[in-house]
Amino acid sequence: MLVSAKEMLNKARDGKYAVGQFNINNLEWTKAILLTAQEQNSPVILGVSEGAGKYMCGYKTVVGMVNGMLEELKITVPVALHLDHGSYDGAKACIEAGFSSVMFDGSHYPIEENIEKTKELVAECEKLGLSIEAEVGSIGGEEDGVIGAGECADPNECKAIADLGVTMLAAGIGNIHGKYPENWAGLSFETLAAVKEKVGDMPLVLHGGTGIPEDMIKKAISLGVAKINVNTECQLAFQEATRKYIEEGKDKQGKGFDPRKLLAPGFEAIKETVKEKMELFGSIGKA
Ligand code: 13P
Repeated sequence: MLVSAKEMLNKARDGKYAVGQFNINNLEWTKAILLTAQEQNSPVILGVSEGAGKYMCGYKTVVGMVNGMLEELKITVPVALHLDHGSYDGAKACIEAGFSSVMFDGSHYPIEENIEKTKELVAECEKLGLSIEAEVGSIGGEEDGVIGAGECADPNECKAIADLGVTMLAAGIGNIHGKYPENWAGLSFETLAAVKEKVGDMPLVLHGGTGIPEDMIKKAISLGVAKINVNTECQLAFQEATRKYIEEGKDKQGKGFDPRKLLAPGFEAIKETVKEKMELFGSIGKA
């Protein structure tokens, strides 16, 4: 059964480790992440962006697939199904479809509007026992070929949002989605410490987990980060393994064209990446 992310994140915060959110794209992705979590006895959060939700034929399809897998694969570790960077309407749709957790990303709104909309969704999630993530300070990333720097969150705005009763808070600390540019300045631990000081016990979320050096990940966890999002790294691992399979001509040998064979190396590569991240984040054995 899907669970809210609240308990697993509070435990991670207290135990000074982080739970990974791994974004899913299809059946292979979901199966790889769930099996790895079970094998490593780790809690896990499955992230679904609005685009990925559409790609997978809508939120109800996602909920059906994930619930089916939890049962058929006999998954007993805590699993949350979480909307990633949701709009207000997207969050409502996921709540209705049976997600156990949502993110409302109102970081692009003026802070008053972000507060207003977050507040409404907090009330709805509370009623149903779901967890909710909010965001302050935008996470940079590549858009139309231009890489935007991550904006640093205002600690006072973080406190205003945290006080609404959200479960976890994503604060921009110079992190960005996708690969980091060569001249990236690194995470702003100064901002992270200032946010932590204002929000107290609130588990913090680090987006853009792909490519952040290990020492920065560990330092971020020591400063209150309890959830780390990883997406691009699994995509790159899948792409590299699939490319290798085809370049080696394996798709042309025997029944190598069978999608169950063709997608197998990519599937294994995702498993390996997820396991490495769980080791780094310290969540192994914490289910
Ligand atoms: P990456 O794609 O950089 O790993 O970021 C994932 C993320 O933060 C999803 O919200």
